[in-house]
Amino acid sequence: MTLELRGARVLVTGASSGLGRAMAAALACDHEAHVLALARRQDALEDLAAAADAWPGAIEPVVLDVTDTPARQAWLQEVGPLSAAILNAGMTLTGPFSKQSATKREQMIALNVTATTAMAQELAPLLSAGRGALMLVASLGGLTPLPYQAAYGASKAYLVSLGLALQQEWKRQGVSVTTFAPGGIATEMTSGAEFASQQRHLQPADDVAAAALKALSERQGLVVPGMQNKLMAAALKILPPSLAAAIVERQFRKDMTADRA
Ligand SMILES: NC(=O)c1ccc[n+]([C@@H]2O[C@H](COP(=O)([O-])OP(=O)(O)OC[C@H]3O[C@@H](n4cnc5c(N)ncnc54)[C@H](OP(=O)(O)O)[C@@H]3O)[C@@H](O)[C@H]2O)c1
Repeated sequence: MTLELRGARVLVTGASSGLGRAMAAALACDHEAHVLALARRQDALEDLAAAADAWPGAIEPVVLDVTDTPARQAWLQEVGPLSAAILNAGMTLTGPFSKQSATKREQMIALNVTATTAMAQELAPLLSAGRGALMLVASLGGLTPLPYQAAYGASKAYLVSLGLALQQEWKRQGVSVTTFAPGGIATEMTSGAEFASQQRHLQPADDVAAAALKALSERQGLVVPGMQNKLMAAALKILPPSLAAAIVERQFRKDMTADRA
């Protein structure tokens, strides 16, 4: 049974920019959904809510840092049943692993892994009330070792594994779990010089958002949007991971190791 997005109550984390903003906007504008749009930046969420005045659905801003466990749990106690939740908030960390900031790496793992895992568990009762749907936003980079985004890639590989496991555990309760694994998207995350050579391969956030919402409503499992990315994902099923890692290392070495000090 597909998930009806029209009139649905949907949580989108990381809704202040990039893919999350595009998904929240498409839900409210094209699908008449009531979106709980969550992020830390209040001004960006209020801009989105103001734009939604002209849309058939609604945007309800939720200003929250999902890594703040007491604040997150207090909010989730009050939120009530949801048709769907899209756990999209994430960050990356680029460059040679040995030079990366340990503090930023811990923040990334706290967000991409710890908070996302905790929220999946905390959301389960809110979703199961109405045979809801959960989406974890992983990455194509979670399907291969990812030199120069090594810990990021590992965090997304974790989400791929978590999502595929929960898909099986929750299917008997009627709750679908979609693991969404996009390739490069043109967002704040990829706007820096380290992604310079990738720019022409980046997909528009609106296109990726449309693919994500289709996958969510069709209750698909692991989904890679875009033909080029699908071909890459198919190749990654055949290539030994060490060879895939060597190819990625060569592709990213120049941009990711440039000294920009
Ligand atoms: N861009 C790509 O090429 C790409 C490719 C594959 C997968 N992805 C994944 O897609 C997702 C969205 O990425 P994006 O490219 O759209 O990045 P983005 O434009 O940087 O957006 C990240 C979002 O996460 C929110 N966020 C960050 N920390 C948060 C926290 N502690 N609590 C709540 N919200 C937080 C940010 O909002 P605030 O700063 O306002 O909190 C922002 O709305 C991520 O999971 C990313 O890993 C991206």
